[in-house]
Amino acid sequence: MISKEMEKALNDQINAEFFSAYLYLAMAAYFEDENLSGCAHWMELQYQEESEHGMKIYKYINDRGGRVQLNAIEKPQEKWENPLAAFEAAYKHEQYITGRINDLMKLAVELNDFTTQSFLQWYLNEQIEEEANVDGIVQSFNLMGNDKRALFMMDRELKQRQLSSDTGK
Ligand code: FEO
Repeated sequence: MISKEMEKALNDQINAEFFSAYLYLAMAAYFEDENLSGCAHWMELQYQEESEHGMKIYKYINDRGGRVQLNAIEKPQEKWENPLAAFEAAYKHEQYITGRINDLMKLAVELNDFTTQSFLQWYLNEQIEEEANVDGIVQSFNLMGNDKRALFMMDRELKQRQLSSDTGK
């Protein structure tokens, strides 16, 4: 059985994961509008991953005899100044999510909730990858500057992305 305090914190995290999904879907729509279908594809997969992150917590709360509570999802930003600004915002958002996962782990430690500590370990590891992936793209955009040909190549490269659950990684 999960404590009420941990249950509330995890329910808040479901909301944060689904907001992340919504934010990345908004970025996908922005990239579609900019005719960057590779960037849009990358963000659509990110949307799917975030939904999976949310559903994993949903299932965990239920498995631990808690009660899932779904709250309103905030409206995400719709436009960014340029592709680099969108990926920079994604990177910043992932750093924010890492901070939230750290706080959840801190709470699980304070509450001597060993099961939730074990559950959250997956999220801590996942955040290493999440931050590194987006940071890598931001670095590439920075190197490209205003080179349109490089942007075209980058967009083609991002189109190759597959869901990590499909590649077994
Ligand atoms: Fe669910 Fe991108 O962290």
